[in-house]
Order: sequence, then structure tokens, then C-alpha cells
Amino acid sequence: MKTRVIKVDAQQPDPGVIEEAAAALREGKLVAFPTETVYGLGAHALDERAVQKIFDAKARPATDPLIVHIAHVGQVSQCAAAFPANARKLALTFWAGPLTLILPKKPVIPDLVTAGLPNVALRAPSHRVARALVETAGIPIAAPSANRFSRPSPTSAEHVKADLDGRIDLILDAGATDIGLESTIVDFSVDPPVVRRPGGLNYEQIHSLVPDVVLETGTGTESEAQVAPGQLARHYAPRAELTLYEGDPALVVRRIGADVRTAVAQGSKVGILAPEEDLTALAPIVASTASAGRVEVRPYGSRPDLERAAREFIAALRELDASGVNVIFASSPGREGLALAIRDRLSRAADGRIKTIV
Ligand code: TXA
Ligand code: MG
Repeated sequence: MKTRVIKVDAQQPDPGVIEEAAAALREGKLVAFPTETVYGLGAHALDERAVQKIFDAKARPATDPLIVHIAHVGQVSQCAAAFPANARKLALTFWAGPLTLILPKKPVIPDLVTAGLPNVALRAPSHRVARALVETAGIPIAAPSANRFSRPSPTSAEHVKADLDGRIDLILDAGATDIGLESTIVDFSVDPPVVRRPGGLNYEQIHSLVPDVVLETGTGTESEAQVAPGQLARHYAPRAELTLYEGDPALVVRRIGADVRTAVAQGSKVGILAPEEDLTALAPIVASTASAGRVEVRPYGSRPDLERAAREFIAALRELDASGVNVIFASSPGREGLALAIRDRLSRAADGRIKTIV
């Protein structure tokens, strides 16, 4: 299959292009499109054959359910059998935006979409291309992140192409996404509601509106990470072996420095993924003669500017991985605000290799 890439303006998408992509979706084809979080791989959510193509293209196990994208809160009743008051409150406050709600599903949603679960995940994205597409298609659109299964989510059309070229019909290219982290998932099929995945909407903001919400996230170990179907620990995985460092920032930097020296001495090619301030502190080790040609560094924003950290994080991880390093040492951004979601993705990529230094 030849994958077409069509450029589209992120602010004012050409209606002709949107109509063409919407028609492709209605016909059961696969279309990758930008959302404000990451690129999604869309298919007609009510067409089982179309949905099956998503699993095939991504090599995604059928046990991992898909998020269904809708145009606005009024469309919830088409897909969900119940809409608890607190879920409605969050939707009215944060949609369109990086929030996904898990609700009891209506029979119209195929079991394939929900991996056989009685609940469906719904989200109204705010990106103008995504909105125009869902509105114009006139159908709910099932869309997981547009990456190969277990790879980091794509924040650009180039990332989508790198993973899925030749496997999908169309990519709408509107440049890099704004937020760079997937949506925050809140599960209202249980009481109290549970945050299943921290993401582009801060936990603190959800908690201030729904105080009884509980935070439950994978911490990197297989048992703890299995809280939501599809939330496998080994996710967002780079090819290189990634170790996550967290704790006191000054001690973390010293420990990474020591581990870089050891790894280089053992013949490794080392990547360092860290906020800018950590890389500044590590500069002398990176510049040392022993490290020449053996250490690659990629900053992801800085702790005082977590929005930029989120935006840059996945591209930095993908670039570092593509540079041919065999180990990556990553420094945690902390757990406040958006840092919680970045740290969650790093802990999944680390697959249990987490060093806490205090
Ligand atoms: O920002 C996002 O959420 C992006 C964009 C494209 O919207 N989508 C995304 O989808 O990240 P995906 O498939 O990569 O992650 C969806 C996750 C699943 O892995 C699963 O953990 C959870 O959402 N999920 C979906 N449906 C569910 C359900 N019925 N019950 C529990 N969890 C569900
Ligand atoms: Mg995904």
C-alpha cells in the first residue's frame, strides 16, 4: 500500500483536504491525523473491518482497547450508556482537550474497539484538524496513537511515517503537535473514578473539580502497570535500554555522570535524556576525552517550563534512539503538573530499570 502524505494548515485546514480524509474514513480506510496531544491513527469506530485494520497496521494486540474520538459532549450519548455527573462536569470544563473519559459503552460500539470490555474511552480533541475531521466525517473515529505498538507516540507526521509508511492510506501533516503527551484518562466505570493514565491535562486540575478522584498509574513494574487494559509496563519503548534516574536532582546528576563514565569504559555508546539544567551540570563529563564520540545528549525542555518539556520530550527520545546509542540514561522531571505524565512515560520506557537516588 502506498501511504499518501497531505500537508494541511494546523490553524485553518483546507476544507477540501478534510472532506477527502473524512470520505476515506467513512469508506473504512486508515487516516493518521494530528491532535493537540499526539498523532492518532483513525478508523470508522462503528465499522469492525475498519477497526481491525488499526490493530493490523500497528501490530497492536487485540487486548488493548482504542479511544473513540467525538466532536463534542453532545455525542457522548451516541456511544455511552451512562454519563455520571462528575464525568459530565469534566467534559464540560476540559473538552475539547486532552481528556479521555471511560464510560459504560452502548452496543453500537464494536467489542473490538473496547477489547471486549463493557466500557468505552471517549475524547473530544481540540486540534482544528482533528475537530474538522470528526465533524465532517459525521461518525465517531477510533484512534490510538499512530505508532507501531510499544513505540513512543508520534508528535510529528515524520514520526508516523517512520513507523507506519506503507501500512496506512493517508497521513495528514499539520506539523508538530502542541502538547506532546497523550490525553489524561479518567475511568468513570468505577466509583470513585480513577486516573488510569496521567497525560496532557494535569491531575491537579481534575482533582480540584472532582476531589474523590484516585490516581493509579503504572510505575514500571509489570504487576503495578497492569491497572488498565493495554497499560503495559513496557510501552513507549526505545530500542536502546533506558534507565530512569530520580530523586534529589544534584545527586541524580552526579550518579548519571558516574554511570556514564562506567558505561563508556565498558564500551557502550551512551545517550543522556534530561532537562537542560541537568545537561549543563553534566557538560564537563560529556566534553571529556574519554567520552569523545561515545556520548549523545538530548535535552527535553526544563523543569521550570514543563509545557516545553512535554512538547520536546518524545522527539528527543526518538532522536536519541535513532542516533545508535545502546543505553539511555534519563533524568526524571519530577511529579508536579505535566511532569507526572512525562515521568510515567519514562518509567514505562525503563521497563523496571529505575534508580531512586536520595
Ligand atoms: O491523546 C491521546 O489519548 C491519543 C490521541 C490520538 O487521542 N490517543 C492515545 O491512544 O494515546 P492509545 O491507544 O495509544 O492509548 C489508549 C489507551 C489504551 O492503551 C488503554 O489503556 C486505554 O486508552 N483505554 C482505551 N479504551 C479503554 C477502555 N475501554 N477501558 C480501559 N482503558 C481503555
Ligand atoms: Mg499509544
